Amino acid sequence: MSGNMVGEGNPLMGEHLPFEERHSPSLEAYLDYYLRSVEDPERFWDEKARELVWLRYWDRVLDEDNPPFYRWFRGGVTNINLNALDRWAGTSVANRVAYYWEGEPGDTRTISYGELYREVNRFAWALRELVGVREGDTVTIYLPMIPELPVSMLAVTRLGAIHSVVFSGFSAAALADRIVDAGAKVLVTADGFYRRGRVVELKKAADEAVRIAADRGVEVEKVVVVRRAGVEVNWVEGRDHWYHELLAEAPGKAYVKPVPRKADDVLFILYTSGTTGRPKGIMHSVGGYMTYVYHVFRWNWDPRPEDVFWCAADIGWITGHTYIVYGPLMHGVAQVMYEGAPDHPDPGRIWSMVEKYGVTTFYTSPTLLRLLLRYGDRWVEKHDLSSLRLLGTVGEPINPEVWKWYYTRIGRSRAPIVDTWWQTETGAAMISPAPGIALVPLKPGSATLPLPGIVADVVTHEGRQAETGEKGLLVIKRPWPGMLMGIWGDPQRYVRTYWERFSDPEKGVWIYYPADYAVRDRDGYFWLLGRADEVMNVAGHRLGTIEVEDAVVAHPAVSEAAVVGAPHPVKGEVPVAAVVLREGYKPGPELEEDIRNTVRRLIGPIAVPAKVLFVRKLPKTRSGKIMRRILIALLRGQPIGDTSTLEDPAAVEEVRKAVEEYKRAVEGLEL
Ligand code: WT7
Repeated sequence: MSGNMVGEGNPLMGEHLPFEERHSPSLEAYLDYYLRSVEDPERFWDEKARELVWLRYWDRVLDEDNPPFYRWFRGGVTNINLNALDRWAGTSVANRVAYYWEGEPGDTRTISYGELYREVNRFAWALRELVGVREGDTVTIYLPMIPELPVSMLAVTRLGAIHSVVFSGFSAAALADRIVDAGAKVLVTADGFYRRGRVVELKKAADEAVRIAADRGVEVEKVVVVRRAGVEVNWVEGRDHWYHELLAEAPGKAYVKPVPRKADDVLFILYTSGTTGRPKGIMHSVGGYMTYVYHVFRWNWDPRPEDVFWCAADIGWITGHTYIVYGPLMHGVAQVMYEGAPDHPDPGRIWSMVEKYGVTTFYTSPTLLRLLLRYGDRWVEKHDLSSLRLLGTVGEPINPEVWKWYYTRIGRSRAPIVDTWWQTETGAAMISPAPGIALVPLKPGSATLPLPGIVADVVTHEGRQAETGEKGLLVIKRPWPGMLMGIWGDPQRYVRTYWERFSDPEKGVWIYYPADYAVRDRDGYFWLLGRADEVMNVAGHRLGTIEVEDAVVAHPAVSEAAVVGAPHPVKGEVPVAAVVLREGYKPGPELEEDIRNTVRRLIGPIAVPAKVLFVRKLPKTRSGKIMRRILIALLRGQPIGDTSTLEDPAAVEEVRKAVEEYKRAVEGLEL
């Protein structure tokens, strides 16, 4: 194999400006860098990728032979472990803390890079020798926020296998869907974990999921169980294995050679919601994801050896994959990782941990900020937050008031706010400030400008470039290394969902469509304005309306349902269901709770409708299509618009009454 085993660039300094200059806003310095990046993107990414460790360099930076199935770094060979772990072995980083982990009850573990390396090797050894995981296999990981989660992900990718992490808040049924779709034969889970002072019995849900999957023809052969909560679990001899027992069987100094992988092999799958009932398995590539995440992490957070980074997301979502596992580890950054609820046992939990660990860089969602803001400043003032030097947000548009609170109260007007727009599909941030290059002047509520190599624009519904200040749809006009490779098992859906809207294949024009509204201002800054499809954004998490509707309709009492996102003061949006009952069923609080429980069982707590509105009729077109937009307009207090296609105007009045009821309920909302 040819190529350089050690990346040539200096990961911490590179060609960037000194820290002080980077952090005194300069649009010019940033644009200078940006414009160079898009002049010749292939050369740009070629140089960037060489800063990482590869076993063999690529023959082509970007293979565009079969758009939109772009392939990055074709011919390249690597393993992400080489950059996230092996790179640090025998260096001073090996003694650096990788994770300061804290359980919800307050128990702690500190894990150095060296210890992480050893544990990953031992678990990889056990997975290979005792569980039988092979290159190319898919392993489903259903774990809470405990150190064994990143260990499992790294062990799986070390073996050249593909992980599919399923958020531990998903139900057994949702887990089963994802096991079946991925065809996973191995599941890694835990006995339970702590949430709001109680134990969530995860193994129970895992057992149930394995049973459902078997009914649907996918046999999970091995279940690895981490002991976290110490609760009793049901055990299937031969199938179930304790994680700690597997590790004990591995040689103390076990070393598993990272399996060489092609740059355009699949690194992992992560499911996300779309406009149909079926979640999409987003596939990310070994070489492209690695390269993009490495650089975006540097651009976003300007990492330095003394940093303590805390991304307060769950690894079950893309934010955690990129900003708790692969991004920070590739930079040798120390992190905080937390198991539980952010306001447990009290609303000061987050700030007390910032103080305790000396967090320098804090990254979270507007939802969490709104929650903490509402608790009042006394919880903030109790703590010394002077270690913070950079603050980030992700997942939803941030309202300027919350931005200002974050900036003045949490960052004491000294820490720039890095508002990062991106998606599960994009791998890492796409539009955001880049203090690691040069900080642009910030505007509260704007994610500012595209990152280097990213060509973004706003177009009208017809595909014409939108005017300055005109609301339109965000598009990305060139491929980038962090882009998804496709949808697991469904190449057509990939083309349809992301590329059909604005591309013109005849002319060789391929445009990525993220389904977000956006507007560009006079300075070229992007303002992201929410989803343009039938997808809700609940507490920074994507949720398909149809997916929730399917779950609501699964209740025997429900004949028809329309689910939409309703504005919510903390979560941004929450699902609200308008429901028509079957004959013989009476509306009431008990039935409402029962319907909500059905959704909890089929998807999980995040999808549970905040309110079930019982109506006798849903607004529909004469051709029978449910007019969700009428419900949305009423919930948002906006004009209901054109109703000429409405089949029965009385249905609108029905919904209007129910909506008033919901609004009264939200006004009295308690935390
Ligand atoms: C959708 C992607 C990417 C990690 C978290 C969510 C919305 C994301 C922002 C932001 C406004 C944002 C978009 C996007 N979104 N970041 N900074 N400002 N909106 O990942 O579940 O894949 O959702 O989240 O609507 O399309 P996801």
